[in-house]
Amino acid sequence: MIRKISIALMVLICSASIASAQKKRIGNETAAQKKKRMEWWTDARFGMFIHWGLYSLGARHEWLKHNEHMTNEEYEKYFKRFDPDHFDPHKWARAAKAAGMKYAVLTTKHHEGFCLFDSKYTDYKAMNTPAHRDLVKEYVQAFREEGLKVGFYYSLLDWHHPDYTADSAYPLTQVDTSQANYDRINKGRDMNKYREYLRNQVRELMTNYGKIDILWLDWSWDKGSRHGKWGKDWDAVNLLKMVRQLQPGIIVNNRLGLYEYSDGGDFETPEQIGTKELDKYRGHTFETCQTFSGSWGYYRDENTWKTHRQLLDLLISSVSNGGNLILNVGPTARGEFDYRATNALDSMAYWMHANSQAIYDCTYAPSSYKVPEGTKLTYNPKTKKLYIMLYDYPADGRLKLPGYAGKVKYAQFLNDYSELKYSDNGGDTELKLPKMKPPYDIPVVELDL
Ligand code: GLC
Repeated sequence: MIRKISIALMVLICSASIASAQKKRIGNETAAQKKKRMEWWTDARFGMFIHWGLYSLGARHEWLKHNEHMTNEEYEKYFKRFDPDHFDPHKWARAAKAAGMKYAVLTTKHHEGFCLFDSKYTDYKAMNTPAHRDLVKEYVQAFREEGLKVGFYYSLLDWHHPDYTADSAYPLTQVDTSQANYDRINKGRDMNKYREYLRNQVRELMTNYGKIDILWLDWSWDKGSRHGKWGKDWDAVNLLKMVRQLQPGIIVNNRLGLYEYSDGGDFETPEQIGTKELDKYRGHTFETCQTFSGSWGYYRDENTWKTHRQLLDLLISSVSNGGNLILNVGPTARGEFDYRATNALDSMAYWMHANSQAIYDCTYAPSSYKVPEGTKLTYNPKTKKLYIMLYDYPADGRLKLPGYAGKVKYAQFLNDYSELKYSDNGGDTELKLPKMKPPYDIPVVELDL
């Protein structure tokens, strides 16, 4: 089922690129105003996603309620036991900051319906668990204090609310897919009431926590089909209008099902795609969301963790196509990042400490600069510096820069600002690198143009 849904998600994300000329509009912001509003985000390039909720106790995917077709009663065992005794959002924020991340997005409510925040409209919230606190409030304070921008993820789906109607993603429609089963579950449910609930909760999130930089609403699928949900199901146009009115500077993702509007979302959200596919997004405003392993929520027994090089490649490939990367951590039920996440973050911190100039404020290189073999390029348009990411470190220490003759003023490694000599030969430039590769998986050369 998850696979089927991911395909639907990919289709809808791709449909976001229908020529904007044919599209309707919700607001009247100009392109220049949007650029200004998005500037900090575009420059930041790297953020942290945090998926945390009751599913952390199950420790086997944030969709476990769906995957195991659980009823609310069966899921209740987690609610009763949610007691994150090691929760310290300052630690999270410091880890994000050290890794070079400039913003974070936390699941205030995921599909399971459980709220990490104190909401007037439900009892299904952290306040009523052994945690007894508004965890979102503490997250906001801590991340602000550490100098990071703050974002909220909020699930449009809700697998707990009594008025949310069953659809093809709903936990109890997985085994019995007959219409009779849908009808049985939906008897007495009123989506109007759920829409009101959703609107009320988003209003709370947009008013009770000060300035919020990002809102990540998730998600809409299968437009027009009987068992999918789309913009109309969320009253998404009015929801978005309210959000923009309450938080004028906010940046909102594109999963509200408003693809017929040119301003129905600020950025595209390609999920878990490979670095080759990211090339297709060049020139789009996008943020690719990626997990360290296969799951967003904490998954104890999942062992397909991405290597340091794979993570670096995702970051570099996002920036070299003009987009952002948001990398996810799923804290444990005790409120901590587990050792695998911590190791991965530390490895990013080590690389970013030495090479972050090739990430922040950067984008794809002008097409007049060919990509040298075994490398990827990023470019800072403000300083006109070109960054060469050395994926394959040349064994003979010579790197050919095709067609670069006469263009380079100075060359150095980023990690220690050590000069690199070069010479022009015909139209090309040859860079002389030391035999010994600097101690970074992917070292970076900075060219002054
Ligand atoms: C998908 C999944 C969800 C995850 C999200 C992150 O929509 O349903 O579990 O939160 O992607 O992008």
